[in-house]
Amino acid sequence: MAVTLREITMNNFIECIGLRVGEAQKNCVASNMHSLAEAKADKVSNPFVIYGDKQMVGFIMYDYTIGEHRGYLSRLMIDARFQGKGYARAALAEVMERLERMPGIRDIQTSFDPENHAAESLYASFGLARTGELVDGEVIVRLKLAEQRASPRGRSDSANSACRKYAFDR
Ligand SMILES: CC(C)(COP(=O)(O)OP(=O)(O)OC[C@H]1O[C@@H](n2cnc3c(N)ncnc32)[C@H](O)[C@@H]1OP(=O)(O)O)[C@@H](O)C(=O)NCCC(=O)NCCS
Repeated sequence: MAVTLREITMNNFIECIGLRVGEAQKNCVASNMHSLAEAKADKVSNPFVIYGDKQMVGFIMYDYTIGEHRGYLSRLMIDARFQGKGYARAALAEVMERLERMPGIRDIQTSFDPENHAAESLYASFGLARTGELVDGEVIVRLKLAEQRASPRGRSDSANSACRKYAFDR
């Protein structure tokens, strides 16, 4: 499954905020509208729309700040119409590769609602393993890239890693 990640532009942002997860998944992830606003405000998040061929199928966002040594996958959603076709796996593979190339990065982190078994299984297949932490009600998972332990400065783990956070704005 090939996907491309494209920047958010005037030509695609309306379609991006119109993407929808399934009714039962609404509490799993913030709305794309919220995520785009967050990215505009925090100035570190990298939001992208996911395309399968010419069709927009989802949204992904990540960040890494040099000196913090930890990369974050902060959002991932695939529109309900396009789930189960391998789009999330392909988009995540691309983002993991991008993050792994960041200078000084030591680990990659994300989180999910404890009931979100699809997310857990997807993340586990990329080596993102439970750390035992539960932050803002979400399970933290992390992939360690280097032996040296990361010690991120200037942010809390809850700052941007939670996928479900702000799901209330739907
Ligand atoms: C989780 C989500 C991103 C998966 O997207 P997707 O494109 O359907 O996933 P893929 O087809 O690429 O499948 C990748 C893996 O996810 C897991 N997965 C996907 N759907 C699943 C399901 N219904 N049950 C269990 N595992 C599932 C599997 O491990 C799967 O790998 P496999 O096909 O080798 O078994 C999608 O269901 C979604 O957008 N959910 C709502 C938002 C969300 O939960 N985002 C994550 C927030 S932390």
